[in-house]
Amino acid sequence: MTAVGIDAIEIWTGNLRLDLAETFAPAQDEDPGKYTKGLGLNASSFPDVYEDIVTMGANAAHRLMERKGLTPDDIGRIDVATESAFDNSKPVSTYVAGCLESVYDEDFHHANKGERKFACIAGTQSLDDAYNWIRAGRHRGKKAIVIATDTALYARDDPGEATQGAGAVAMLVDEDPSLVELSTEQGFGSADETDFLKPNQQFPSVDGKRSMKVYLARLREALEDYESQVGGVHPEDFELVPFHTPFPGMVRKAAALGYRHIIRDTDVELTVAEEIGRQPRPEEFKTQEQYFDAVTEYTDALTETERYQAWYADTIEPTLEIAREVGNWYTGSVHVARAAGLRHARRNDRDLDDAKLLLASYGSGAQAEIHHETVVPGWEDEIAELNVDEQLADRYEISFEEYERIHDAHNHDSETDVEELTTPSEEFVFDGWGRMGERKYRYVR
Ligand code: CAA
Repeated sequence: MTAVGIDAIEIWTGNLRLDLAETFAPAQDEDPGKYTKGLGLNASSFPDVYEDIVTMGANAAHRLMERKGLTPDDIGRIDVATESAFDNSKPVSTYVAGCLESVYDEDFHHANKGERKFACIAGTQSLDDAYNWIRAGRHRGKKAIVIATDTALYARDDPGEATQGAGAVAMLVDEDPSLVELSTEQGFGSADETDFLKPNQQFPSVDGKRSMKVYLARLREALEDYESQVGGVHPEDFELVPFHTPFPGMVRKAAALGYRHIIRDTDVELTVAEEIGRQPRPEEFKTQEQYFDAVTEYTDALTETERYQAWYADTIEPTLEIAREVGNWYTGSVHVARAAGLRHARRNDRDLDDAKLLLASYGSGAQAEIHHETVVPGWEDEIAELNVDEQLADRYEISFEEYERIHDAHNHDSETDVEELTTPSEEFVFDGWGRMGERKYRYVR
């Protein structure tokens, strides 16, 4: 069977940076440690007034096409995943295609375009769609572009405000990919949940604490479903485990529970048992509550063991490096985590040829997906092309007063006229409104 997967990836961050410890914490009258240690975030990326989900998505896709020497004729499919769409009918992919057509001689008139919605998991679902399209042999030798783009903004003073972010990830999906091959095995955990939603409103209604419980419950279900496909999982099977990362503190919790789950009845459980005992089993307890208390105590002790900490440092921590500096990018988040892990591995000369990654995707409402990916030899050359470090370093640092104005500028219900803080160059920008209320764009050279 021909390998299908991600051939190349590009990341595009919003051009502004809000420092959580220096700027946000004092304004909120909070200890900076709540953000940097508790949530695990140093900064958020924000869009300047001329940026939105279309510009960031089109800029990421443009860079991808230029770098891979592609023209519109090479592309048979453009899917955009977002939970920040501003149009209930016309998909964001048409706006993105319009932007790209303005800088190429060819057009995308024969490309199938769509928009995927299922909160943050839609990015992975779009990847699955592209994979299935190629596997089904309906791609006529063409490639798919998958774009995950979001302005993950919360209402002012919502507890989620500290986890905001804005950016896009563009991925080229193709046969014989240069970066990772996707597995056919997948596990799902899906249930009708009311934890985070936007019923025809821009900013989300969030039950933050509940959303964390639902994240853990659906991922556990997805992991069990995946295990039923592959016949068991061992922590050493995977070199990196990129999670959907609403904030790194969420992944810290999920990783501990996942590790406990997969070491049960393995040599690892026996080894750490010398230090902290065996995992509690339900049949050893009179009530479920007593069992849960014992499991919590065991998990806390497990995270203190050298074995766990070494696994976490190698497998999880590298995937969080970019998220710590940009916040939550919703649909793009797990794809940023994959890129961060690979970037860290390249920088540290880690040999990942043919290694396996376990991808843990999640979307509120709620659904989780677990699948694995096999790293393709030569992956370092692809990762070397990422310019995310330069982009992050070039962001304009905003004051709290500027943050308040920028938040208003992106609030669909407010009529503020806000000056841009940066000067765009070689990128698509928002250029006002058209006669039917559509958003218009142009390329700035
Ligand atoms: N030093 C160190 N740590 C500190 C601290 C300090 N000074 N002050 C607080 N902390 C710790 C807290 O103990 C807590 O950590 P633990 O959970 O490990 O105890 C952490 O910092 C956060 O503090 P709070 O729980 O008090 O924070 P909060 O209640 O104000 O907000 C939140 C947290 C509910 C997650 C909020 O950020 C939120 O609503 N976020 C949006 C929803 C979200 O991201 N949910 C995640 C799962 S859903 C999902 O993944 C989909 C998605 O993308 C949205």
